Amino acid sequence: MSPTRRSLLTAFLSLPLIDAANMSAFAQAAPELPLTQACDDGDGLTLEREAGPFFKPNTPLNRDLYPGSPDGERITVAGFVFDRRCHPLPGSLIEIWHADENGEYDREGFRLRGHQFTDVQGRWWFNTVVPALYPGRTRHFHFKVQRPGGSVLTTQLYFPGEPGNAGDRIFHESLLLDMKETGDGLFGQFDFVV
Ligand SMILES: [Fe+2]
Repeated sequence: MSPTRRSLLTAFLSLPLIDAANMSAFAQAAPELPLTQACDDGDGLTLEREAGPFFKPNTPLNRDLYPGSPDGERITVAGFVFDRRCHPLPGSLIEIWHADENGEYDREGFRLRGHQFTDVQGRWWFNTVVPALYPGRTRHFHFKVQRPGGSVLTTQLYFPGEPGNAGDRIFHESLLLDMKETGDGLFGQFDFVV
């Protein structure tokens, strides 16, 4: 039986408490969810990317965005926020905004826009839909990430295997989601290092 988005999220959320800077427990508990970045080499900060023209402040506290696009392909995106020494950062702000299944951003309201704070283990997740392509860009999510008391990282995450990645002027392979297909949609993981 293939996994579902929920089963992968449950596996992600049921990992043992992380021994700070020691990711071996994580790797043993969930070998199918490897870390997507090295954060302990002193050079692993997540790259910044431009916000683009569609950012709106004051989004709602909401991690379940899919009701705003009921016809979209479901995806759960999840991960940690770490510092560069691999210490998880609880209470970090994570904000997402992205295009809908037709490649449109909601400029009037807050459909497919929301924020949350990482839990005590530095984890975040959103249940949303796969953004469609729009002219001039490869497929992407927009994010802002802010550790408590820190500055705001603005960036974008990308989809592996996307034909438009190679020709996109903003794309960077270090910002690829670690993607898995499940029985009811996609599950993508990315760990921010700020
Ligand atoms: Fe965009």
